[in-house]
Amino acid sequence: MGFDVTGFRKNFPALNRKVCGNPLVYFDSAASSLTPIAVADKIRDFYLNNSANVHRGIHELSEEGTTAFEQSRAEIRTFVNAPSEQSVVLSYGCTDSINTIVNGFAASKLKSADTVLIAESEHHANIVPWQMLQKKIGFEIVKIPIDEHGRLRHEIMSEYAGKSIRFVCLASHSNATGVAHNVQEWTQWVHKQGGYLVLDAAQAVSHGAVDFKGLGVDFLSFSFHKMYGPFGVGALISKEEHLSDFVPVRGGGEMIDSVRFSGTTFAKPPQLLEAGTPNVAGVIGAGESIRFIRGFDSKELASHESSLAKMCREGVQSIEGVELLGNEDPQNAPLVSFAVKKCHPHDLSTLLNGYGIAVRAGHHCAQPVMDRYGFSGTIRASFLAYNTHDEVSYFVEKLKTSIKMLRDA
Ligand SMILES: Cc1ncc(COP(=O)(O)O)c(C=O)c1O
Repeated sequence: MGFDVTGFRKNFPALNRKVCGNPLVYFDSAASSLTPIAVADKIRDFYLNNSANVHRGIHELSEEGTTAFEQSRAEIRTFVNAPSEQSVVLSYGCTDSINTIVNGFAASKLKSADTVLIAESEHHANIVPWQMLQKKIGFEIVKIPIDEHGRLRHEIMSEYAGKSIRFVCLASHSNATGVAHNVQEWTQWVHKQGGYLVLDAAQAVSHGAVDFKGLGVDFLSFSFHKMYGPFGVGALISKEEHLSDFVPVRGGGEMIDSVRFSGTTFAKPPQLLEAGTPNVAGVIGAGESIRFIRGFDSKELASHESSLAKMCREGVQSIEGVELLGNEDPQNAPLVSFAVKKCHPHDLSTLLNGYGIAVRAGHHCAQPVMDRYGFSGTIRASFLAYNTHDEVSYFVEKLKTSIKMLRDA
């Protein structure tokens, strides 16, 4: 039997709501996924029946919360095949994880003569923290250009081989084009240069297993709100051998061994990088989101999602005046990003909202990609396993109607 999308949808009450009098068609999962009942229940249960702080309390509620909290770390470790629980740093999201890598690790490795390579297709989260550090240290940032199909150009490898490349910063999948990058190839190359690979897996985690050890990358970051989990929780995964080179980026409780006015000694990672009270309910909910995903066959989910993207791409492609970003590789993230001649993406998105359709419109926090293609923004329709082929047909039909309305206006 194939994937039971009707059964899967029952986990998401938001899919029963109406928007502008129409059933919701939620095509904005690359920004944030809808939340399943199991995850919401887990968080609610924690707040209603526990709500105590973790780690420091010697009482039942705190101990129970700490166990559930640390169980989530263990779930994350297994989910992304991290080397150990110590190598799983809990964060407030993908952006927070990257900032910790940049300021807690890269800052002490970079000198002014060094170079950091960043893919042109990166989300701002993997560009701006590096630029902020560059202002303090003065190293060079070079972009790895993308071609017209959104693929990374490899020429830069020979151009920069032997130079002082310390970091390559790359998303496994671009959130603006959907294009999947060959992470292993770049990892092997940067390791030959004596540098590190920072992988942004924000667009990968909800669509199939991410294998940290298998990929061989040095660092990995992601957020749970894109994978059926709560907002405000993410993870940073580090190779074990790099952990002792981290310095704290935020000081306070939880990350110390002892504090005196004469000086402070610090805890080891991951606690060193987890100052202050964490989002306890969120982390417990994040563990539940992993259990939720693992309740399904990941290959079935991914194949349903990519068939939605394929159908959508074909439907959108047939419309006159549409320019699609990226390419048709089935490995890509299931999203379709496009510009339409003479139609502003915000206007189109507003009209589509009137039909109950939620898409994202704009630069998707990837302005260099928009510059590369010469657009100020695009419409991005992105899918998760709760979407259906009927929704895609409806979207293509209403997109045609909306384009006509704007052109006739
Ligand atoms: C590829 C990529 N990286 C990073 C981020 C930032 O994630 P967050 O805002 O959860 O920190 C996003 C979010 O859209 C993304 O798509």
